[in-house]
Amino acid sequence: MTPPVRLDPKAEEPLYRQLYAQLRERILSGALARGEKIPPTRELAGQLGVNRATVAAAYELLEQEGLIRGHVGRGSFVSGAGGTMLDWEARLQGSGMEARGWGAGARINFASARPGEDLLPVDEFRACAREVLRGDLGQILRLGSPYGYGPLREWLLEQGRAEGTVREGDDVIVTSGCQQALDLLARTLLREGGAVAVEDPVYPGLRDVFARGGARAAGVAVGGEGVDLEALERLLEREELAAVAVTPNFQNPTGATMPPAARQQLLRLARAAGVAVIENDIYGRLRYEGKELPSLKQLDESRLVIQVRSVSKLALPGLRVGWVTGPREVVRRLADWKQTADLHSDHLSQAVLLRLFESGRLEAHRRRLVEAGRARLRAVLEGCARHLPEGARYTRPQGGANVWVRLPEGLDAERLLAKAEAAGVSYLPGRLFAVQRAEPNALRLSFAGLDPALIEEGLQILGRIFRREWQKTRASAEAGLATAIV
Ligand SMILES: Cc1ncc(COP(=O)(O)O)c(C=O)c1O
Repeated sequence: MTPPVRLDPKAEEPLYRQLYAQLRERILSGALARGEKIPPTRELAGQLGVNRATVAAAYELLEQEGLIRGHVGRGSFVSGAGGTMLDWEARLQGSGMEARGWGAGARINFASARPGEDLLPVDEFRACAREVLRGDLGQILRLGSPYGYGPLREWLLEQGRAEGTVREGDDVIVTSGCQQALDLLARTLLREGGAVAVEDPVYPGLRDVFARGGARAAGVAVGGEGVDLEALERLLEREELAAVAVTPNFQNPTGATMPPAARQQLLRLARAAGVAVIENDIYGRLRYEGKELPSLKQLDESRLVIQVRSVSKLALPGLRVGWVTGPREVVRRLADWKQTADLHSDHLSQAVLLRLFESGRLEAHRRRLVEAGRARLRAVLEGCARHLPEGARYTRPQGGANVWVRLPEGLDAERLLAKAEAAGVSYLPGRLFAVQRAEPNALRLSFAGLDPALIEEGLQILGRIFRREWQKTRASAEAGLATAIV
C-alpha cells in the first residue's frame, strides 16, 4: 500500500477511525482499485503494530459503506474503487442552493417574512379541523384531481367570479403555495434559453425558480411605484420575453405598491408586446393603510394575466395551499405539470382551509393580522426614522411584511450583519435579492413577525451599529481627504 498508512496513537481520533479514513480515501481516489485484495486483518495489524481488532473495526466501517466486501475463505476486496463509487459531492456540484439558516437563533429576527408565532390562527384551525374530521372523509382520503380538492376549487371559482378575478374562459388550480405555482408556471411558460422580466430586487424564490427552469431573469428596477415601466418598455422592445412577473402589492423585498395608473400602463405594454403577465399577489390581503387597489387580474381585458395567491401570509404558511387563476388553456397545462410533480395537493389541508374560509374564521383572523400589522408597520417606520444614520433611506410600504433600507453609500449591509447578529438582531442583506443590480448598502427588514416593542429595540441596536460604522467610514474618508490635501 503506497503511501504507507500512518497511525498516530497520540491523536484524539481512535486508531480504527484513522485507519478507516485513510483506507477510505485511497479507495475513493482510486489508489486502491476495484477488485484489489486488501490484506487480512492479522497481516495488516502486524504491519502497523496495532491490535487486530483495530483493523477489523476499520474494515467493518468500510464494509458498511459498501467500499469493501469480504468473501469467506478468500479475504476482503475493494468493491467501490476507480470512480465506480459515486462521489456525491462532485456529482452534485452546482445543484442546490446555498443553504444558510438566515436569522435562525437571533433574538430579534427581522430576517423572516413569515407571520409571528403569536399570530398563528391556532384555535380557528383546531375548530375547523375538528369539523372536517367529523364529516365524510371519503373524499379526503381518495386520490383526487390535479386541479385540487373539488369543494375548495368550487369555492375559489365562485369567489373569483364575485370579485372579478375569474373571468370568461378562466380556471383555477390549487397548488402547494405560491412557490409551486411559480414553479409550474416556469415549466409551462418558459422555453430553455428564454427570458423573463422580474423585479430587481426580487424575492429570491421567484428569481431562482425561473433561472433553474433554464430561463434568464432580466431584472427591471423597482421604485416607489413598483417596476420602472420605462425600463420595462425598453426591455420589451429589445427582447422577446416569455413573461413579465410582478408583485403589484407590497413587493418583496421593497414593499412597493403599483398605483392604479401604473397597473394600467403595465397591461398596455404587455398587450402591445403580446407577453404573459404573472401577478404574484401573495401579500394583497395584508393592507394596513390606504385603499385597496384593483388587481392586474381584475383589470385585464386581454387574458394576459395569470394570478398567483396563497394563504401563507395570512399566517398559514405551513398548510402549503395556494392557487393560480388564469386562462383555461394555461391552467390545463399547469394541471399536467402538477400531476407529474405530486399528483395533487393534500386534501386535508385544503378541506380545513375551505372550512376556515366558509366559516368566516379566516377573514376574522385576517382583520386581526391587519390590526397587528398596522402597529408593526408604524413601529418599524418610526424606529427607522429615530435610529438609522443620517443619509439612510427606507421605503414606506402600506402593507405586507417588508421595508427596504438603503444605508449611506459605503456601508456594507452584509458585513455589518455579523455585528448585528452578535448583538442578537438579524436581517437579510440586499445582495440576496439582487438580479442584476447589487446594492451592497441595502437590507430587508421584515417586521410582520415582531411585536412593536421588539421592533423598537431591534432598531435601536441596529441603529447604534450602523451609526458607529458610518462615523468610522466618514472619519477615515475625511482623514484620506486631509492627507490628499496635505
Ligand atoms: C413574493 C413571494 N412569493 C412567493 C412566496 C412563497 O410563498 P408560499 O408560501 O405561498 O409558497 C413568498 C414567500 O415568502 C414571497 O414572499
